[in-house]
Amino acid sequence: MSKICINIAWPYANGPIHLGHVAGSLLPPDIFGRYNRLIGNEVLVVGGSDQHGTPITVTAEKEGSTPDAVADRYHKINKKAIEDMGIQYSLFTKTNCANHFEVVHNIFNDLLKKDYLYEKLTDQYYCEKCQKFLPDRYVEGTCPKCGKEDTRSDQCDKCGTTFEPGDLIKPRCIHCKGEPVVKQSNQFFLRLSAFNDQLTDFIDSKDYWRPNVKAFTANWLKDGLHDRAITRDMSWGVPIPLPGWEDKVIYVWFEAVIGYLSASIEYSKNVGKPDLWEEYWKDPNTKHYYFIGKDNIPFHSIIWPGILIGIGGLNLPYDIPANEYLMFKGGKLSKSRGGAIDIPSVLSKYDVDAVRYYLSINMPDTHDSDFTWEDFQTKVNNELVSALGNYYHRCLSFTQKNFGKIPGADSKEGSKEVIDMIRLTLDEYNECLSHCDFKKGIKAVMELARFGNRYFDSMKPWALIKENKEQCGKVLNNNLMIVKALSVMAWPFMPRSSERIWKDLGYKESIEKSGLDAVTSKLPAGRGLSEPMPVYKKVEIPKEEEEDDASAFADFKKADLRVGQIVSADNHPDAEKLFLMKIDIGEAVPRQIVAGLRAYYSKEQLVGRKMILVSNLKPAKLRGYMSEGMVLAADDEAIGGKSVQLLRPTKDVPVGTKMNSGLENSSAQIEIKDFQNVKMVVSKTSGKKLLCNSLEIEIPKEAPKVITAVIDGDSAIALSDGKDCFATVDNEMKDGAGVR
Ligand code: MF3
Ligand code: ZN
Repeated sequence: MSKICINIAWPYANGPIHLGHVAGSLLPPDIFGRYNRLIGNEVLVVGGSDQHGTPITVTAEKEGSTPDAVADRYHKINKKAIEDMGIQYSLFTKTNCANHFEVVHNIFNDLLKKDYLYEKLTDQYYCEKCQKFLPDRYVEGTCPKCGKEDTRSDQCDKCGTTFEPGDLIKPRCIHCKGEPVVKQSNQFFLRLSAFNDQLTDFIDSKDYWRPNVKAFTANWLKDGLHDRAITRDMSWGVPIPLPGWEDKVIYVWFEAVIGYLSASIEYSKNVGKPDLWEEYWKDPNTKHYYFIGKDNIPFHSIIWPGILIGIGGLNLPYDIPANEYLMFKGGKLSKSRGGAIDIPSVLSKYDVDAVRYYLSINMPDTHDSDFTWEDFQTKVNNELVSALGNYYHRCLSFTQKNFGKIPGADSKEGSKEVIDMIRLTLDEYNECLSHCDFKKGIKAVMELARFGNRYFDSMKPWALIKENKEQCGKVLNNNLMIVKALSVMAWPFMPRSSERIWKDLGYKESIEKSGLDAVTSKLPAGRGLSEPMPVYKKVEIPKEEEEDDASAFADFKKADLRVGQIVSADNHPDAEKLFLMKIDIGEAVPRQIVAGLRAYYSKEQLVGRKMILVSNLKPAKLRGYMSEGMVLAADDEAIGGKSVQLLRPTKDVPVGTKMNSGLENSSAQIEIKDFQNVKMVVSKTSGKKLLCNSLEIEIPKEAPKVITAVIDGDSAIALSDGKDCFATVDNEMKDGAGVR
């Protein structure tokens, strides 16, 4: 028996985690942790929410909220989603807590004392317009390595290169889009260069690492290690434990990786054994595994080991089985692109073990993998249900019906074939799971299920029962041996359903307690069986889901936006803010629309002008008059009170022209609530490329301001006719002003 420390990458608490996180870095360690407990190892599983850094502050600014509110909200949401996915931690904590601050401060002071930290004046991006230093995600620009545009200034989200201030080509402030200057600021640096040789030896010894992890790391080391700034000019984060540094904090990546240690310490305190963590961190026999996504590789394979070497006496990573990405419709899932496959909605429709099965069999371990609903349906229905679930059910129900108990075993012919196959599968399974090759591991399990089905069919127990009941019992005993082996080996992947099968076999103790030896142990003949229920159900994917790449995007496609011309505008007889308007959108009869525009427009200004109408809203009565649609107007609260401007097409296109950005969309009636999720904003986008239907389109200069619908956190669609006519406003309006 040995001790294993399983460290799981800390998701940023700046949005809900989605299936990409589960497949990438959360499910693999859960499988691994369960497997290790099954073989009798003692396992510590630590992680939590990464609550600092610009990912949190940028989100807080976008949401008009505060960093601690954001960090707290998503911590709770994500903790629950993780539990609902059946992912077990010893402790899922957070970085914004006293224990973590204390551990980070101790390490900071220790490294400072040892001269592994030092102060240096350094270049930082600074925005003169916003009068602010711009750390990390506050600056975007082009990656000097791979040419990816709009990448952040700390790490390229395409090629993973990490940057220092000044590296980006064409840097821009994310707020004012202006070019930042580089200004000097004092920071603390980690003397990584001091660990060059030790880190090189460390990595050289890791011949068993996944090739991508090894290659990425070796590439980093190739040019020698550079010292790195580990503080930032911002106020949200772990404070620097020294006087005079109040306006700076510790860099999120420096402190987040320390979280693995602080969480282990916190866990030890929680269970009343404050020194327990030392058994995991100081005993050189304890192996440390880090489960992460590939963009996290250098922080775990170089920086964190560097910090650990600096501290001294603590275990370095044993393995870092980083996964690639789970892709959705050809794109990497991002916090908001995950919308369509966010965890609560997926789990409200599908069984958690079906989801875990699909993510295991489709795990992005050596390559990116694609998530599609169609593939989900195929793999669940044709593999999980047809091969595994049916096998379980036919064995258990046939035996129960005909024997009511576990029949006696056969030591002769037939069973050797079965036992051999179980042993062979178990060997393969052990080989895979102990080396974090989970996809291959679940495949081996499924092979055994297929073997079981073939065996069942070839033995024809339905015929045998009539001819030779005793012989039939032996065959069924063999089948139940396979059922048992399957349920135990499948448990790390699909714990809930496996446990049910196990209980159907009459076991009282849990699979975990019984351990992996139960795979080959003899069945207790004569023990009563109760009537089994099928454990997996076929899934049917609703049509919308198949086309659904992101929920905001899907909602946007539901709105039928049309160019209209105002034919008339009259005062509402008994509501002083409302106009009753007739709007021509190319139909036989103009639409009647009730709109609150009287404070902003005169009748004269309205009649004859073109605008954009949401034309498929369910008609509703507003103060006694039917309104058959909604006019779109931008609304700017900041400029000297409120200003409201109707949208207008940039070109004189005919009434009725669709302004759905060239996307296929439906004109089925929608409710106002469907449309409320579509966030549209005024954007200054001249010359900027925007994503449109996964094509990058260039916004023409004649539309200095266009309206974009945000379809996810990283990309937006400009409202257009799909060609060269965009939606705009007549007068200056601040970027980001909302459209309703
Ligand atoms: N928050 C980071 C991310 O989501 C991962 C941090 S892992 C830790 O990419 F090492 F910092 F804990
Ligand atoms: Zn790049």
